[in-house]
Amino acid sequence: MRNIDENNITQAVLDRMSACSNPRLKEVLGSLVRHLHDFAREVKLTEAEWMAGIEFLTATGHMCDDKRQEFILLSDTLGLSMLTVAMNNAKPEGVTESTVFGPFHVAGAPHVAQGADISAGATGEPLFVTARVTAPDGKPVVGADVDVWQADEDGLYDVQRPNLEHHQARAVLRTDAEGYLRFRTVLPVAYPVPTDGPVGKMLVATGRHPWRPAHIHFMVVATGFERLITHVFRDGDPYMDSDVVFGVRSSLIGQFDQHPAGTAPDGSAMGVPFHTLAFDFVLQPV
Ligand SMILES: [Fe+2]
Repeated sequence: MRNIDENNITQAVLDRMSACSNPRLKEVLGSLVRHLHDFAREVKLTEAEWMAGIEFLTATGHMCDDKRQEFILLSDTLGLSMLTVAMNNAKPEGVTESTVFGPFHVAGAPHVAQGADISAGATGEPLFVTARVTAPDGKPVVGADVDVWQADEDGLYDVQRPNLEHHQARAVLRTDAEGYLRFRTVLPVAYPVPTDGPVGKMLVATGRHPWRPAHIHFMVVATGFERLITHVFRDGDPYMDSDVVFGVRSSLIGQFDQHPAGTAPDGSAMGVPFHTLAFDFVLQPV
C-alpha cells in the first residue's frame, strides 16, 4: 500500500499483521496500534512531542537494572498496574483483595523460621506481626510460603541501599499447622517512590506528589489456592487517599497498635515502645 495518510495508516498496519498466527497477540497488538494511532490523532501529536516520548521511554529503560524497575514504576504511577490487578483479581466477598506488586520484590529472599526478626538490621520502631492464612471456610492454610518485604524508617527498601550486601526487612516464612505466621520487623512508614529518574520528572511535571502510604508487602503462595499479591496498609496514614500508585483498598488497612515498653508478644523484654499488627489473609481456592 502506498500514499499512506493519517486516515488510512491504521488499517494498513492492521492489514500487515493479518498473517499473525497467534490470535491473542494479534488482538492485543492490533488494539494497541488502533489506540496509539487514535491517541496521536486526538492530541495532534507533533514530531517534537513524539521524540520527547521516545526519549522518555529510552531514559526509562536506561534506569532499569536487576534492582531498579523504572517501567513497573511508570506503569504503577500511570494506574496501568492497578487497572490490570483490578481486572484480573476480582475476589468474592470475604477473600483478601490484591493490590500492586510494585518494583521492589526480590526473588530468592531468605527463608526464615517462625518468630524471626526479619529486619536484619533495618532501622525503625519494633513491630511484631501475627498473621493467619485461611481458606474462605476459615480452615487454616498450612505450609503456605509467604514473601514479606517493606521499607525501613527512612522509607527505603534494602535494594535501594547500594552498599548493603544482605537482605533487610525482606524474608519468606511458612505458615504453621494453624495457618499462623509470626515475625518481628520494623514499623513501615510512608515513602516517596524513587524520583531520581524519568518517572520522578513526570510526577513533578504533572503536579503530583510521589508518596505511598505506609505498608508491608505480602505474597502468599499455597497449593490449591490462587496466589495472593497484596499489602497491609498502616491505619491513619495521611496518604491513604492519594497513593501515587492507586493501590489502597479499604479492606487492606490494618490496625497497628502501639504499646509501651514491656513484654513483647514473643515474650521478649522490650526496653522501648513497640507496635503490634494482627491481620488475616483469606485465600481464594483454585
Ligand atoms: Fe512498597
